[in-house]
Amino acid sequence: MRKQIAAANWKMNLTLQQGEKLLDDIIALPHQLSEHQQAVFAVPFPYLAMAQQKIAEKKNVFVAAQNCYNKKSGAYTGETSVEMLLSVGVHHVVLGHSERREYFNESNQFLGEKVDICLANNVTPIFCCGEALSVREANGQNEFVAKQLEESLFHLSTVQIQEVVIAYEPIWAIGTGKTASSAQAQEIHAFIRSQFAAKYGDAVANNISILYGGSVKANNAKELFSQPDVDGGLVGGASLIAEEFNAIINSLK
Ligand code: 13P
Repeated sequence: MRKQIAAANWKMNLTLQQGEKLLDDIIALPHQLSEHQQAVFAVPFPYLAMAQQKIAEKKNVFVAAQNCYNKKSGAYTGETSVEMLLSVGVHHVVLGHSERREYFNESNQFLGEKVDICLANNVTPIFCCGEALSVREANGQNEFVAKQLEESLFHLSTVQIQEVVIAYEPIWAIGTGKTASSAQAQEIHAFIRSQFAAKYGDAVANNISILYGGSVKANNAKELFSQPDVDGGLVGGASLIAEEFNAIINSLK
């Protein structure tokens, strides 16, 4: 079975002390991750080392950065390289979140370069895609997402693409409390998988984990994750509450 993943995206929330407490609280709660299940915590940069230390002994639990730069090193004030992430033990990074695309003008091509530098260093990109409300209302979501995937990922080899985790996050469902229905999620996840199948073949496409993001909560996670092409979630608000996120972890199939 392909990996089923509950990924927390803390975004720009919590102090160091609050983050430490949240991780301690989640770790203390009962959860069991089987071999094909993972929990990932995408925490702010200053907390990566702390979080990595806390989960170092935990099986199938990982820390992720929320971004990285597309260059190896050098005069890029304020940016963080993949090498820096590796040096604090971090092997996962969220790329192309809609908030970064919108507020920091990250383009598909630029994100493709970030994906490349991650894969060249054995860092797993959690690559976000998803359409705005206006696109969904015009029924243009498939074309929109297909273009994001094509322009950022389709230059990758068959081996490389299987190292990428996809997170489909419709912008209209992020932080709005308006979740895609499980049928809507399944429909577009199946479409995304079909795009990978067309490019790389069925066997490869079946290996790629596709997470859903957008108002995932403890009370809707099980229903969403039960869909055949929904392989877990990327969770914002609900990942800041220990019991909520733990219940989401426990909703993985
Ligand atoms: P919410 O779960 O708060 O809607 O955020 C989703 C998200 O953007 C995760 O990356």
